[in-house]
Order: sequence, then structure tokens, then C-alpha cells
Amino acid sequence: MSNDSFEASQKRSNDIRADLPVHPEKYLMLTGDRPTGRLHMGHYFGTIKERVALQNLGVTTRIVIADYQVITDRDTTEHIQDNVYNMVMDYLACGIDPEKTIIFTHSAVPALNQLMLPFLSLVSEAELQRNPTVKSEMEASGHTLTGLLLTYPVHQACDILFCKGNIVPVGKDQLPHIEQTRQIARKFNERYAQVFPEPEGVLNDAPEIPGLDGRKMSKSYGNAISLCLTEEETAKLIKKSKTDSERSITFDKENRPGVSALLTTAALCTGRSEIEIAEEIGDAGAGALKKYVTESVNGYLAPIRERRRGFEKDLDYIKDIIHDGNRRANEIADATLEEVRQAMGMVY
Ligand code: TRP
Repeated sequence: MSNDSFEASQKRSNDIRADLPVHPEKYLMLTGDRPTGRLHMGHYFGTIKERVALQNLGVTTRIVIADYQVITDRDTTEHIQDNVYNMVMDYLACGIDPEKTIIFTHSAVPALNQLMLPFLSLVSEAELQRNPTVKSEMEASGHTLTGLLLTYPVHQACDILFCKGNIVPVGKDQLPHIEQTRQIARKFNERYAQVFPEPEGVLNDAPEIPGLDGRKMSKSYGNAISLCLTEEETAKLIKKSKTDSERSITFDKENRPGVSALLTTAALCTGRSEIEIAEEIGDAGAGALKKYVTESVNGYLAPIRERRRGFEKDLDYIKDIIHDGNRRANEIADATLEEVRQAMGMVY
């Protein structure tokens, strides 16, 4: 994406951020996750916390559990049911309120998926090939470029537009997809009739959340602290994280990635700054730092985990939430698809 359009997106994002608390009723948020594993602290501080805040501001909120995206770059749907149930548990434990926020899965909403056909007619192969995020995802996965991986940004446009979402909280890497969605909406409206809004990405202002080794927190790096872990499992993970041989604790992301990642983790959980924590621990060393981080993380996650334990015992309730979300999403998708048929003159 060019610098110009990045700056334009950034500016629109800032304007929306300022307007959100004033006019929450103008906004409809759609966002989602691939159900490939448990949510971790990177998800929580990177996006879930903000979704809960938007929900509680009074913004209309919808979350797609993007089950069809799971097979963009892998050959199996193993564990998908378990992952979907657990994702709902994680959401609810974090404060997503299913009365306010519709939680649904792709595969249960046929009319959403049907938007893919008219939308695919609005994009060119060259546009699809140019998307930098798709390219890097393909390289990272080591998988061949499937048709679904190539076109998933268009499918994501279906997710956003079926419910007429106008804001999508995103990290920078998802901006090309938002741009694609805007273009699809614009082209559809121009070619047929005004049906869709042009959604805006609301850029995440949280810093990248480091995993225990200092790289971005990601399940695939094995450096993540999942929300569902017990206190003991959390303590163990933090204990075996790699620091360095220097005794005195300082915050230096470049040269001391392990120590600095631990400091950032504690900072996020306590609201204190990394430097303040580093100074306080000082010569007490990595052992003391790890103890402090463990207590901060376990303290911060305690209420989330307690709620989660409750949901784990009540799978029927979790299933009810998904069924209800899917029912509501289908009503919305059917209505939108009907408008699309009308706009295209496909009424017989
Ligand atoms: N691609 C997103 C991810 O990997 C998940 C997702 C699916 C999504 N549909 C979406 C995000 C629509 C925003 C809007 O995390």
C-alpha cells in the first residue's frame, strides 16, 4: 500500500476514533478471527479489549468466527468444532456480550457466502495477485496458493458488507483488505445501485504485543500466553522463557528481546511503564522479573479465567450462543442478498 493511502487511512481512522464516543450509533463494527487455536494475550490486548470497549460504547457489533478462512492455507478442518466452541468461550470470558454482539460462523450463513459471486466479478486477477498480505501469508504458510487464499480478501469483503459494517478494527497488515472491500462496495454501488457503505479500518493503536521471545506473539511461534491456561501453566511458561546473562534488568528491545518482552507483558497487565518496572527490579535479576510478570499476568487474567471456567462447564450454553448468532446473522444476510438481487435485476 502506498504511503499516501496509508496516511489517508490513518487520518480517517483518527477522525473516527474521535467521533466514536460522541456518535456511537453511527457505527457498525464487523471483525473476526480464524478458529485455528485458543486466543492469547496478543489477541486480547491487540483487538479483543477494543471490541469490548466499542460494544460497551453502544456501537453495533458483530464478530465472525471465520471458519472458511481456516482452509485458505491448510488442508484439514481437524479440531474446528472444538476451536469454535473455545473461541466463543474466550470471547464471552473477555466481556463480549452475546445480547449486544452477534457471534456467528461463515459456514452457517449461506447468503453471506453467495455475495462472493457478484463481488468476484468486481475484482481483477491482477488486483488479487498484488495484495501484499496474501503474498506474505502464502510464504509464511509454505502452502501453495489456493484459489481460496487468493480470493479470501473478497470473502472478507462479504463478511464486512453483508451486515453493512462501516468500521473494522484492524492492524496495519489488514489495510489492503479494507481497501479491497471499499473498492468492491464502490464498484457495486456505481454499477448497480447504492447498497453498501464504504467501510473504514480503525487502526489499532496498541503497540505490537511481544511473545515470550520478543517476536510478535503468535501461536505458530510457540511464544504465546493463551487466555485459557491455568496459573501454574502460565508460571511454567514464563519461567522457561529465554532471558540473558546480564543481571541488571533494563528495557532494551533491540539488545535484550527476552527481558524486554517480559517487561512489556507486565506493563500491559499493570498499567505501569516498562522502565519503571525495570528500575524497580534492577539487580534482583531475571528470576525476580519472571516472578513479577507471572503475578501480573495471573492477576490480570484472573477474572477472565474465572468466567471461562464457568463456560467450560456449560457447553450447551455456548452452543446456544452460536445458534442464536447464526440465526440473527442469517436474517441480516438474507435481507442484504435480497437487496443485491433487486439492485442487479435478478428478481423472477
Ligand atoms: N482475516 C482475519 C484474521 O486472520 C479474520 C477475519 C475474517 C476478519 N473476516 C474478517 C477480520 C472481516 C476483519 C473483518 O484474523
